[in-house]
Amino acid sequence: MPPTLDTEQLLEFDKRHLWHPYSSMAHPLTAYPVAAAEGAILTLEGGTSLIDGMSSWWSAIHGYQVAEINAALRAQIDHFSHVMFGGLTHRPAVELAQRLIALTPPPLQHIFLADSGSIAVEVALKMALQYWMARGEPERCKLAVLRGGYHGDTFATMALADPDNGMHTLFQHQLPSHHFIPRPSIPFGAAWEERSMEPLQQLLEQHHSQLAALILEPVVQGAGGMYFYHPKFLQRARALCDHYQVLLIADEIATGFGRSGELLACDHAGVVADILCIGKALTGGTLSLAATLTTEAVATTLSSQGSGTLMHGPTFMANPLACSAANASIDLLLRSPWRQRVQQIEAGLRRGLAPCRSMAGVKEVRILGAIGVVEMREAVDLNRIQPLFIEQGVWVRPFGRLIYLMPPFVIEPQAVEALTRGVVEVVSTFASSATRD
Ligand SMILES: Cc1ncc(COP(=O)(O)O)c(C=O)c1O
Repeated sequence: MPPTLDTEQLLEFDKRHLWHPYSSMAHPLTAYPVAAAEGAILTLEGGTSLIDGMSSWWSAIHGYQVAEINAALRAQIDHFSHVMFGGLTHRPAVELAQRLIALTPPPLQHIFLADSGSIAVEVALKMALQYWMARGEPERCKLAVLRGGYHGDTFATMALADPDNGMHTLFQHQLPSHHFIPRPSIPFGAAWEERSMEPLQQLLEQHHSQLAALILEPVVQGAGGMYFYHPKFLQRARALCDHYQVLLIADEIATGFGRSGELLACDHAGVVADILCIGKALTGGTLSLAATLTTEAVATTLSSQGSGTLMHGPTFMANPLACSAANASIDLLLRSPWRQRVQQIEAGLRRGLAPCRSMAGVKEVRILGAIGVVEMREAVDLNRIQPLFIEQGVWVRPFGRLIYLMPPFVIEPQAVEALTRGVVEVVSTFASSATRD
């Protein structure tokens, strides 16, 4: 048994031995020790309470310690926690597939239950590539990709990140090359301009015979820049993909399950993708699980070549505990007034973050659904800004120039007010001190 550490020792050990996301062993950032999490509140060791503005990166839509999800996990644990999915199946997976088929547009009928978002995208890419191999066009192996996107951290998904601000430069010699177009230029809510489709039109015109698919995050580009674009782009992109016979892959790993105000972000445009990836909020943020859904046409075509095998099969595929959590989370979401809650959060974010619009150092404030973004002109220094948020009693984790909020849907209006007040306070302090520096 390792010795029980006090909080200081725990933090010291963590700093020396544990990598956190995108962190350095030479210059580790402070990590804050969580002792409890309930509803929309994180409590640190030592007793500090923080209003959660992050939903643990889009996932904890119902907040923490959700009775229904915990009960489903306990019930499943008493049966079995995991069995291989090769040659075996189980009720949690089948019942999850039933729910996903009911929840998503009718053409999406075939489901791969993956173990994380990045892997769900990898599977989507394999589906698209194997589809074209089966159709006798293996040269269709490139992707059309929007700049400013993010689809994961594995090698195939890194190759889809923006070549200028993603991880391309570091790994450029190992990554396959794809065809990029600028991010959609018309923001959500702005007047539509048809000519904004020209870059995609030209790309498809020139390269469609090498393209397997267009991959995009519908309407909301998340970790690549927190940018919201006009849903008409999606409608036009669907039509162009149909015209040039290019598959459309929608990565809704961040946006799925209501975050943008619709159940799927594709619903803003009434568009159905050929391949859809979901994850994150799928289990209400309790366990890692993601899913790749596709149509009868893609599934039967790719299954018609050779052995007809989709070449993927991770050890923890369709983990029964994760599937049980997902079933409970989906039921809870659909029973809840999630749409009104998201609208209420949207109104609260709009009101609460408005003062940031005129502050020094702020480039833009954007709100869509339960997502609020304050884009700064310069990248913020996490070492300086993070303690300020803690002082304000809010959990907000900026990246680069982006300070953003996406609280759990169960957050109370007063807590949204407190969260946005905290952000306004920190942005004003931070911006004015930055201008003095
Ligand atoms: C749109 C999108 N796709 C894929 C991923 C990767 O998911 P994961 O971190 O579960 O691998 C993310 C994660 O942030 C995402 O936002």
